[in-house]
Amino acid sequence: MTPPTKTETPALLLVNISQLLTLRSPSGNSGPRRGISLKELAIIKNGAVLCSGGKIVSACKTKEALRDPWIRKNRRKIVEIDCAGQVVLPGFVDSHTHPVFVTPRLVDFEKRIAGGTYEQIAKAGGGIRSSVEGVRKAAKKQLADKVLDALHEMAEQGTTTVEAKSGYGLTVDSEIKSLEAIRDAAAKWPGTVISTLLGAHVVPKEFHNRAHEYVEVVCKQMIPLVAKRKLAQFVDVFTDRGAFTAEDTEKIFDAAKKSGLGVRAHICQLSETALRPLLRFRVASLDHLDHVSDGDIRQLAKTETVATLVPGANYFLGLEKFPPARKLIEGGAAVALATDYNPGSSPTASMQFVLSLACTHLKMSPAEAIAAATLNGAWALRMQERKGSIEPGKDADLTVFDVGDYREIAYWVASNHCAFSVLNGAMAASAPR
Ligand code: NIG
Ligand code: FE
Repeated sequence: MTPPTKTETPALLLVNISQLLTLRSPSGNSGPRRGISLKELAIIKNGAVLCSGGKIVSACKTKEALRDPWIRKNRRKIVEIDCAGQVVLPGFVDSHTHPVFVTPRLVDFEKRIAGGTYEQIAKAGGGIRSSVEGVRKAAKKQLADKVLDALHEMAEQGTTTVEAKSGYGLTVDSEIKSLEAIRDAAAKWPGTVISTLLGAHVVPKEFHNRAHEYVEVVCKQMIPLVAKRKLAQFVDVFTDRGAFTAEDTEKIFDAAKKSGLGVRAHICQLSETALRPLLRFRVASLDHLDHVSDGDIRQLAKTETVATLVPGANYFLGLEKFPPARKLIEGGAAVALATDYNPGSSPTASMQFVLSLACTHLKMSPAEAIAAATLNGAWALRMQERKGSIEPGKDADLTVFDVGDYREIAYWVASNHCAFSVLNGAMAASAPR
């Protein structure tokens, strides 16, 4: 065991972990998890994890850890936590969220209960556009406070890495303000935040019937400015009926790549769009995929583009159909799971709830759901070198669950069994249950 590096925060040793889900790759496989490898959790029974300097130093059996000469010598300086009867896994990587909004969309909620669909409500003036005025008027500090509240709520439920999108401002200034709010909130949160510019969420009202002009604003103004100010790592597009076309998406991806940013898209949520022309952009992730074709699943399987499924949206919109997870997994695509936390289609910060939906509605096994919510989530953000598994050298992002068996994380419905999380080596307690 390599001695931890010198650091201001004390080293942390978790011992007697009933099941330590390391997600270490068994075969030296370096790509995202696909097919049967999605269910390999590399569990150590009665495990121990040593963290120092915000990194994982070792993951092994408790008895091996306690025999280690460095640990024996430094035991009094190490913060030691007995995790008997608990399960430890890599912190959840929530790779798709929209936390920069001001108010919940309660009118849309009631309209849907009365029988309206997401698209009908959007056409009648609800939907994404109805969240825009609030964000445009809000002060940056107000938005940052909202984002920080969401990040804390996520951490309390086991999430340690979050992708956060702008997308409810839809002007250069208010998209920049949204991304700055994400940056300011992230600076106060011990976990890791990856930012995404979603200027192409919908065409704003003032560009009605002039979508191509708005796409120009996104490509020529928003993207270069965001890249110059280093406010985002990715550019996202909502490519679907009522939002942006595949041609718009190619233009936006082209601009993003020219500015050195990664790309991802919301796609095949409401209708089918061919994925093939977009895959040449080395897209990090394509999200939703309710209407993906069999041919495109075969194309996806040949790439490192992750298929991120967000079943919280299907649940909250009251849909009968859910994304075809089994077809994607068995077809060899790399599947991830995320909350899609947003005020319109998925107001949940709980990856545990998403795991539950993945098992009950997508027919993923609990093991597959956990790998999709950790290691493949990290791949979806291109953070696989640092996140998503408990292996020496990776960031010390762990989450501890008060359950005897990891399958219970997906089994208990609408309850939070996260005892505490470790985010980049810092402990954050969950609210008492
Ligand atoms: O991922 N589909 C586009 N964007 C969000 C919904 C955003 C909203 O309705 O506010 C989604 O479902
Ligand atoms: Fe989304």
